[in-house]
Amino acid sequence: MADDLCSFTKDIFLVKVPKKSPLVLRMIVVMFAMVCGVYICSICLKQISIRTKVGFVSFPEVIQKPCQKPDIEPGEVPYVHFPKPTTYSRAECACNPVRYFAILSMQRSGSGWFETLLNNHTNISSNGEIFSVKVRRSNMSTIAETLDRLYNLDWLSSASKNECTAAVGLKWMLNQGLMQNHEQIVEYFNTRGVAAIFLFRRNLLRRLISVLANSYDREAKLLNGTHKSHVHSHHEAEILAKYKPTINATLLIANLRQVEETTAKALEYFKSTRHIILYYEDVVKNRTKLIDLQDFLKVPQRDLKSRQVKIHKGSLSNQIENWGDVQKALKGTQYESFLHADIRR
Ligand SMILES: *[C@@H]1O[C@H](CO)[C@@H](O)[C@H](O)[C@H]1NC(C)=O
Ligand SMILES: *[C@@H]1O[C@H](CO)[C@@H](O)[C@H](O)[C@H]1NC(C)=O
Ligand SMILES: *[C@@H]1O[C@H](CO)[C@@H](O)[C@H](O)[C@H]1NC(C)=O
Ligand SMILES: *[C@@H]1O[C@H](CO)[C@@H](O)[C@H](O)[C@H]1NC(C)=O
Ligand SMILES: *[C@@H]1O[C@H](CO)[C@@H](O)[C@H](O)[C@H]1NC(C)=O
Ligand SMILES: *[C@@H]1O[C@H](CO)[C@@H](O)[C@H](O)[C@H]1NC(C)=O
Repeated sequence: MADDLCSFTKDIFLVKVPKKSPLVLRMIVVMFAMVCGVYICSICLKQISIRTKVGFVSFPEVIQKPCQKPDIEPGEVPYVHFPKPTTYSRAECACNPVRYFAILSMQRSGSGWFETLLNNHTNISSNGEIFSVKVRRSNMSTIAETLDRLYNLDWLSSASKNECTAAVGLKWMLNQGLMQNHEQIVEYFNTRGVAAIFLFRRNLLRRLISVLANSYDREAKLLNGTHKSHVHSHHEAEILAKYKPTINATLLIANLRQVEETTAKALEYFKSTRHIILYYEDVVKNRTKLIDLQDFLKVPQRDLKSRQVKIHKGSLSNQIENWGDVQKALKGTQYESFLHADIRR
C-alpha cells in the first residue's frame, strides 16, 4: 500500500511533470514577458512625459539646480556667487564659487602692473579699465549693465579665464564715473557682494612725474611712433625715462593736496563696502601683501609674477628738469619726504 502510494505519487511526478511543464513554463514565461513589457512601456511613457514637461514647462528650474554651497561662514554668504554665463558653459567648474572685486585706483599708481600680477593667477580674471570707454559710464543703468555682464562672466577680454575663474573683476579709476555715481555704485557693490581693492601710491610726486611723462608720450610717441604706458623691456624703459618733465612748482602743493583729498574722499564713500587698502610701494617691497590679497579674494595662494618693467627708477633729481624748484617748493612741507623715498621692483 505504502509502495502503491509511493509509486502513485511517483507516477504523478514522473508522468505529469515532464508532460505538463513545457506548456506551463512557456505560459509563465510569456505572462512574465508581457507583464515586463507593459511595465517597461509604462516607465518609458512616464519618462518621456517628464522630459517633454521639462522641455517646455519647468526647464529652467531643473537646469538651475542650485550648487551645493561650500562650508562657509554666514558672513561670507553675500560674497559667494555661482554665475551662469550665457555665452559658454562653466563645465566642470560650474559649482566652483566665484568672488566679485573691483580695483579702485588712480592713473599711474602701479595698477597696470598690479593687474598683470592678479591675472598671473589661474583663477583670477581682472578685465582692465572697462570704464575708460565713456558710453559705459554714461549713467548708472549703463554702469550696472556693464558690471552685470562682467560679474556674470560674460565679459570677453584677453584676461578672461572662463570656466574655472574664482575671482572676477576690473580696474576702475576714480575719475571714470566712480566718484560721480558713488552712492549708487556703493549700493550695487553692497547688494551684489562686490569687494573693493584700493590701490594707491604713497609717493605722489613720483606719481606726478609718471602722469606728466605718460601724457607727454601720448603726443611724442617715443617708442618707434607708438605710445606706451607700460613696457616689458629695460631698453624701452630707458627710452621712456629719458624724457624729464618740468613741474610747475607754484601749483605743486595744491596738486598733491588735491590727489590726497580725492583719495580720502573715495575711502570715505566706500567705507561700508568690504575692502582692502594696498599701497603700490608696499606691494613692491613686501610680497606678503600679495598673499594678503589672495586671502582677501579667497583664492588658492600662488606665487604671482609680472613681466612689466618699471619706467622711472633711481633718484628723483635725475627725473625732473627743474629739480631745484621742486626741492625748494617741498622743503619744510608735509610732502618733503616725497623728495627722498625711493623704491625698486
Ligand atoms: C604666470 O607667469 C609665469 C612667468 O611669467 C608664466 O610662466 C605663467 O604661465 C603665468 N601664468 C598665468 C596663468 O598667466
Ligand atoms: C543712459 O545712457 C545711455 C547711453 O548714453 C542712454 O541710451 C540711456 O537712455 C541713458 N539712460 C538714462 C536713464 O538716462
Ligand atoms: C582654479 O583653476 C583650476 C583649473 O585651471 C581648477 O581646477 C580649480 O578648481 C580652480 N580653483 C578654484 C578655487 O576655483
Ligand atoms: C624700433 O625699430 C627698430 C627697427 O625696427 C628696432 O631695431 C628698435 O629696437 C625699435 N625700438 C624700440 C624702442 O622698439
Ligand atoms: C604755473 O601755472 C600757473 C597757473 O596755471 C601759471 O600762471 C604759471 O605761469 C605756471 N608757471 C610756470 C613756470 O609754468
Ligand atoms: C609685510 O606685510 C605684512 C602684512 O601684510 C606685515 O605683517 C609685515 O610686517 C610686512 N613686512 C615688512 C618687512 O614690512
